[in-house]
Amino acid sequence: MIIIKSDPENPGDEIRAAAEIIKKGGLVAFPTETVYGLGADALNEDAVGKIFKAKGRPADNPLIVHVSSFEQFYEIADVNEIAEMLMKKFFPGPLTLVVKNKKIPKIVTAGLDTVAVRMPNHRVALKLIDMSERPIAAPSANKSGRPSPTKAEHVIEDFGEEIDCIINAGETKIGLESTVIDTTVYPVEILRPGAITKEELEKYVEVGEAKPSSIPRSPGMKYRHYAPRCELIVLVGKNFEEKAFELAKEFEKKGYRVGVAGMGVGYDLGKNLEEFAKNLFKALRDLEKVNDIIIMQGVEEVGIGRAIMNRLKKAGKVYRID
Ligand code: TXA
Ligand code: MG
Repeated sequence: MIIIKSDPENPGDEIRAAAEIIKKGGLVAFPTETVYGLGADALNEDAVGKIFKAKGRPADNPLIVHVSSFEQFYEIADVNEIAEMLMKKFFPGPLTLVVKNKKIPKIVTAGLDTVAVRMPNHRVALKLIDMSERPIAAPSANKSGRPSPTKAEHVIEDFGEEIDCIINAGETKIGLESTVIDTTVYPVEILRPGAITKEELEKYVEVGEAKPSSIPRSPGMKYRHYAPRCELIVLVGKNFEEKAFELAKEFEKKGYRVGVAGMGVGYDLGKNLEEFAKNLFKALRDLEKVNDIIIMQGVEEVGIGRAIMNRLKKAGKVYRID
């Protein structure tokens, strides 16, 4: 495994070695503005197979394909009018569009006739795709079920020598994965909330509620996700600080090691929801190392708070305290 250091604002020719690995069918972990991705040539079935194997990812959970230009998007998928409009507003950025597939092998889409595509807003990612001269399939670069990686160290923690290359360009800016929307239905549906909020999307399109169905619309939604290696308790409501330390004391009396994390409380998650989002996965990975139980602050489900709570509900147990 090779580690390539790169400047997130100004990547240079060092990216070429990683692009060569992609071209030869290897696995490269790379930064995006959301989280680190584990990339392979999206057109090479064997290469994509290695992603599923390394992650321990169920074969029915499809991958996002990353492109660096609108032309590349048109080449691989059938870009409908709504998708085209959203692409022009939000690409590059943390929005993934589900559209009808044209060219991407079934292993990537888990046999669906749609494909999820995004253009990351990160110079290293865009340069890697450009130099590889092909779209790159990439899930988050964590073992299946673990918190997503926001630093190269997290990727090394999960994979070590199992992958061919990591491009280290420091911590990712957003810290939560992209918003995934289905543009093959109208109103469009949010399949996974992220940094592009429902409120922002509603400026341009009608956004419907994803209907509950026996067949999960976004296969990834049915699996347990983001979980730390210890117990996670999330408290939502007023007086978090008081309630959290009260509860922590009770657990500590019984001999458990307890970590408290909130906005300005204990392990500091930041001053606002954007900082909370950025710090969330890192906090889970830091705190699991030294605790049996994490007590974390929950937030109201508006704006990016929806994405934060979506992850926390999957990672642990959520309680209201007012
Ligand atoms: O920010 C991100 O999106 C990161 C970075 C690396 O780009 N990637 C990421 O990928 O989060 P992953 O594999 O961890 O999550 C992909 C999500 C899953 O929930 C999957 O079910 C959904 O996208 N998805 C992929 N293809 C789909 C499709 N054709 N239809 C519906 N959902 C799809
Ligand atoms: Mg993931």
